[in-house]
Amino acid sequence: MTAQELRDRFINYFTKRGHAHVPSSSLLPDDPSVLLTTAGMQQFKPYFLGDLDAQKDFGSLSTVSIQKSFRTSDIEEVGDDTHLTFFEMLGNFSFGYKPGEPGSSQGGYFKKEAIEYAHQFITKELGLEISYVTVFKGSPGVEKDNESIKIWSDLGVKNIKEEGIEDVFWGPTGNSGPCGPTTEIYCKNAKGEDVEIWNIVFNQFLYNGSREDLINQNPDKELQPLQTPGIDTGAGFERLLTILQGKDSPYETELFEGVMGKIGSYGEIPQKTQRVLADHIRATAFLITDGVRPSNKEAGYILRRLMRRVLAHQNKHQLPKEFISALLSLTTQNYIEAYPELKLSEIEAIYQEEHKKFIAALEKATKELSKHSDLTAQQAFSISSTLGISFDLMKEISPEALRGVSQEDFDTEFKKHQELSRAGAEKKFGGHGLILDTGELKAENEEELQKVLRLHTATHLLQQALRDVLGPEVGQAGSDINSKRLRFDFTFGRKLEDAEKQEVENIVNSIIAKNLPVKFEEMGQNEAKNTGALYFFKEKYPEKVKVYYVGENIQSAFSKEFCGGPHVGSTGEIGKFKIIKEESIGSGKRRIKAAVE
Ligand code: ALA
Repeated sequence: MTAQELRDRFINYFTKRGHAHVPSSSLLPDDPSVLLTTAGMQQFKPYFLGDLDAQKDFGSLSTVSIQKSFRTSDIEEVGDDTHLTFFEMLGNFSFGYKPGEPGSSQGGYFKKEAIEYAHQFITKELGLEISYVTVFKGSPGVEKDNESIKIWSDLGVKNIKEEGIEDVFWGPTGNSGPCGPTTEIYCKNAKGEDVEIWNIVFNQFLYNGSREDLINQNPDKELQPLQTPGIDTGAGFERLLTILQGKDSPYETELFEGVMGKIGSYGEIPQKTQRVLADHIRATAFLITDGVRPSNKEAGYILRRLMRRVLAHQNKHQLPKEFISALLSLTTQNYIEAYPELKLSEIEAIYQEEHKKFIAALEKATKELSKHSDLTAQQAFSISSTLGISFDLMKEISPEALRGVSQEDFDTEFKKHQELSRAGAEKKFGGHGLILDTGELKAENEEELQKVLRLHTATHLLQQALRDVLGPEVGQAGSDINSKRLRFDFTFGRKLEDAEKQEVENIVNSIIAKNLPVKFEEMGQNEAKNTGALYFFKEKYPEKVKVYYVGENIQSAFSKEFCGGPHVGSTGEIGKFKIIKEESIGSGKRRIKAAVE
């Protein structure tokens, strides 16, 4: 079966059964609480919520679609046999189910019909055997899905596994929305391994929190019955095709065959790299077509990372200039029938522009790395993320500067940063549009984040310099940092002399010039206080705290403070420090605003 035949079969199967065929929506969703479209249900969210009426808009209470989808949560897995960034999701949906009523003639249906449709499509239309299915085993507030167990058993499927909320409960996407238990279908691939090919979601709840709240059982959030319960399903098109064509992975199917052959013709490139290249070329072509442009923000940042990975591999394996154009051309040829919107010339032009920026960043990285002989993992990560240059590439440029940093140390830094971005991204779902928001530190995108880190470390230096010049009565009374300036409030009884301000500035700049490392140690509160680290009297700290210090070791450090981070890797990254303003904020308190260049 060809790719196009599989697409047609799926659509025909469901349109024959009363479903309206709805075209894929853009990879850039209307919903501001998600960055990219991750599933077929995204465009139908308002129908599940009862905000829009499917009967009115589609002439039916059930729909079928092939949705362009994108997931970065499994990006490290890309290159294995099943995970892709961009993929097509086959889905059927139903919005009109009335609890207690069997499926209506208009097409609203629920568990029985949804399971029967999927079962019939897989076993009869495609002739595949189901290896096993999963059903929801229940959790506080949601009962075990005995109904699905019975439906599967009646269909003769005996291998039924029960799983919990993390695996077989979908949603909500974003900061709230429809969600419900699911049942997943697994088939065996050519190697005899079980592959999840279809997920059927029984949307029956509305949750007023994020998925994380749901899994952690946030006591302030609750599940309520959904106004318009229904069905949301998703079958992985590439996975199904892999199995149908008897292949080990999507890269051997007709979807990637041509591109993989071409990449292989350029000489020895490891298999995982070949697959990553094929995946990222296709993914970036679709993102660009849907209007995403490389940037340091949100979807643009995802696109930039994927493009830079392609460019870096081109560089590393010394592939010729026309390499990217050749792959883009094969990819678009392969997809143009199903996706006529793909514009090769536009995609190529964006690649050329990004290539220039990448070369400039490479030069900057080379210059930056030549200044160091032994970077810490924190410093290496900071350079990598500021310039958009991968760790591998940095290592090639200067093995000397990176000799003390292992891939593992770097990955740990990356993970820390990811957790931070994730925490920030969740805040964004709350509507602030921030990728970092600790209360004290705020940044909207990667570029701002780097500036905020520089200002944050500068704030620590400022506090110590003020104490050095004015005495120990200087204590922190507040701090607020955005990408433009730092603001530091402190206890002190009078206006500062010009000479004092100058001295403070000089001290901070001299520490910057020494390029001292910025590190932290985690310890109990009492031990931390005994190190002499500064802390904010008003704040309640947890039992275990981090002490950030500037210097080679905590004893001799210029500055030590209780702080959650994050900071730059070394003071040299801060740039030139300048006090912009010093003023009274009443009752023995002063405020300094300062910037870095
Ligand atoms: N929305 C469900 C999923 O993506 C079908 O798995």
